[in-house]
Amino acid sequence: MNVIYQFTFILVIFCLTSFTTKDEETKLVAKKIVTHSKYQEVTIKKSTFGITPEGEKIDSYKLKNQNGMEVDIITYGGIITDLKVPNKKGISENVVIGFKTLEEYLQPNPYVGAIIGRYANRIANGKFSLDGKEYQLTLNRPPHSLHGGEKGFNRVVWKAVEVKSGKKASLRLSYLSKDLEEGYPGNLQVCVTYTLTNENQLEVLYEATTDKETIVNLTQHSYFNLSGDFSNTILEHEVVLQSDKIVSINENGIPTGEFEWVANTPFDFRTAKKIGKEIGVKNEQLERGNGYDHCWVLNNSERGKTIVAKAYDKVSGRLLEVTTDEPGIQLYTGNFLKGNLPMRTSGFYEHRTGFCFETQHFPDSPNQSNFPTTVLIPGKKYKTKTTFTFSVN
Ligand code: GLA
Repeated sequence: MNVIYQFTFILVIFCLTSFTTKDEETKLVAKKIVTHSKYQEVTIKKSTFGITPEGEKIDSYKLKNQNGMEVDIITYGGIITDLKVPNKKGISENVVIGFKTLEEYLQPNPYVGAIIGRYANRIANGKFSLDGKEYQLTLNRPPHSLHGGEKGFNRVVWKAVEVKSGKKASLRLSYLSKDLEEGYPGNLQVCVTYTLTNENQLEVLYEATTDKETIVNLTQHSYFNLSGDFSNTILEHEVVLQSDKIVSINENGIPTGEFEWVANTPFDFRTAKKIGKEIGVKNEQLERGNGYDHCWVLNNSERGKTIVAKAYDKVSGRLLEVTTDEPGIQLYTGNFLKGNLPMRTSGFYEHRTGFCFETQHFPDSPNQSNFPTTVLIPGKKYKTKTTFTFSVN
C-alpha cells in the first residue's frame, strides 16, 4: 500500500512539473513570436520607374511594412503613386489616385499624389512684398499663382536617400530650389521625408532652409478614396474636421481676409458627416469652390497630437486619421476631376472619385497680415510634420 502511495505521489509530481514546463515553453514561444513581430522590418526596394524626355532616370521606392501597408514614391515630384492599405477583411488595396507610367505623370494633371511647393494654394496676383521688395511669381492660374507656379515641386526631380531603422523605413527626398525659381526669393534647400511605420502610419516631414528671406508653405496632394474602388465617388465617405471656421474665399478662390463660422453651414464637419450630404446645397462658398475646396482653421489644441481630420469608408471599414502641426487643412473634393485621367487598369478617374487632405498654412498668407506668417529667414529652419494613420473599424 505504502509503495502504491509513493508511486502515485511521484506520478502526480511528475505530471505537474511536466505540465508547468510545457506551459512555460508555450509562453516563451509566444513571447518570442510577439517580440519578433514587434521588430519585424519595414523594407524599402528601389526600381526604375522611367526616363524623362531630358534623359533623367526616375526611380521608384517601395516602402513595405508587416501589417499590409505599402507606399510607392517616385523621385519625380516626390509623388506617391501607390498607397496600399488593408480593409476590414485584411485585403490590401490602393487608396490613392495614381497612374501606371511616368509618361502619364508628365502630362498635365491636377497635382496627383505630389509634393506641393514652394507655396501650396493660391497667392493673389502672384505678388507679395518682403523686406520692402516686391516679388512677382509665375501666374499659372491667371491672374493668380497656384501651388508653386508653372513648374512647382510637383514637377521637379528629387534626390533620394533610403533611411532604415528596422521598425520604420524612410525615404528622404531633397531638392535645391534656386533663387528666383518661379519668382520666389532665396536658394531654398528642401527636404521631405516620408516614413512608414509598422503601426500603419505614413509620416511626412517637411524641412527647409534659405539664404534669403522668403516664403514657404509645403503640402502633399494625394487624392484618397478609401473604398479602394475608384469607380466609386468619395461622397459616401464620412469626414470629421476639428475646426470651427473656414478661410472665406472670393470667386477666384482667394481669401477675402475674413473667416466664416461653420456652425449651421455645409462646412460643419465637427461631427462625422458624409462628404456628399450637403455638397450640393445652395451656398455661396460652395459655389465659389465648385464644392469643397477650402482651408479649415484647425482647433488643433495639441499641435501634432490632436487628430484634426478623419475620413471613414463604411464598406471597406478603412479609417484615415490625420495629425499635423499646421494651422490649416484644405479639404478638396476632386471637383475638377472630369473623367480624362486614366486609371491604372482601365477606365478614367471621374468627378469626385478622390479627396485631398492638404495640411498647410492659409492661402495667400503673404498678403494677409492677420494670418499666421509663412516667412522663412536665413538661419531658421522650416519644419513641419503631418501623419496619416490608417486602421479599420
Ligand atoms: C487644390 C486647389 C484646387 C485645385 C486642386 C488641384 O486643392 O485648391 O483648386 O487646384 O488643388 O486641381
